[in-house]
Amino acid sequence: MALLYRNSCKSSTTKGITVLKGLEGKSIVVTGAGAGIGAATCRRLAAEGARVVAADIDGAAAEAVAKEIGAGAVSLAADVSSPDGAAACVAAAVDAFGRLDAFHANAGVEGRAHLVAEFDLAVYEQVFAVNVRGAFLSAHAALTQLLAQGDGGGILFTTSLASLMGSPSTSVYNASKHAVHGLVRSLAKEVPPGIRVNALAPGVVDTRMMRSLEESMGTAGGTDATTLKAGLEAAVPMKRYASAEEIAATAAWILSDEVPYVHGETITVGGGLTP
Ligand SMILES: NC(=O)c1ccc[n+]([C@@H]2O[C@H](COP(=O)([O-])OP(=O)(O)OC[C@H]3O[C@@H](n4cnc5c(N)ncnc54)[C@H](O)[C@@H]3O)[C@@H](O)[C@H]2O)c1
Repeated sequence: MALLYRNSCKSSTTKGITVLKGLEGKSIVVTGAGAGIGAATCRRLAAEGARVVAADIDGAAAEAVAKEIGAGAVSLAADVSSPDGAAACVAAAVDAFGRLDAFHANAGVEGRAHLVAEFDLAVYEQVFAVNVRGAFLSAHAALTQLLAQGDGGGILFTTSLASLMGSPSTSVYNASKHAVHGLVRSLAKEVPPGIRVNALAPGVVDTRMMRSLEESMGTAGGTDATTLKAGLEAAVPMKRYASAEEIAATAAWILSDEVPYVHGETITVGGGLTP
């Protein structure tokens, strides 16, 4: 797990406006940072003055995000489904910024939507490896460092509304996110005061993941991706998908000092869509 990109300047520069308390100078790992919600969260955290480790299994994508941010960002090629990968994310933060303040376990995969009657073990293995094992390994790596430092911190998981509800053809994904929901609720009862553990549960977000799900959910449901997408949008009271930036704003808010009593919570961001 080699550090792919490091700007020569270790201190952060605040770009844009700093609106959220307590993020300035914080050292924060974001996994799945090469695209979608993770990339948007890196940009938002950096704009708030945080220093970020952009980690992704796609090292080139993570590197592009860190380079775009510039000073105060480093990147890492890391697979969170392996113990070494999750540990490398934390090591990169300590190496680059001297400590870890927060870990956003955001990396996730959707798998191919299919009916349980047509169960595909390969999809199950892939989705559970990244979404569940990756979440546990990330939690363990982050917690080990935060406990050693002994002065608090944050662990945030991107779950999904799917962690709280069922839907046809995405049972594997939903079950994996339900598992992370259970991890969050249990971990929140294990950590000492000062470490806050939360889940951010988006509804439908306009990223690559939804393009993939529109295709496979459409196929599973006997329709096409365009019709499937129109149906999903119609089901949202706000009648549209969220942008990755709208989810990133919520992630930054949860990780900031604006909400010090938010702990063990699942914050849903569904545009009115509820489980
Ligand atoms: N897009 C949505 O509608 C939506 C809704 C609810 C929750 N989520 C969750 O949000 C998170 C981010 O999803 P997104 O929409 O940005 O998807 P995305 O596919 O755009 O981005 C996911 C990123 O994770 C990376 N990744 C995949 N496997 C990895 C691994 N083993 N180790 C490290 N990185 C890995 C990918 O390379 C990619 O860059 C996921 O956990 C997803 O389940 C997404």
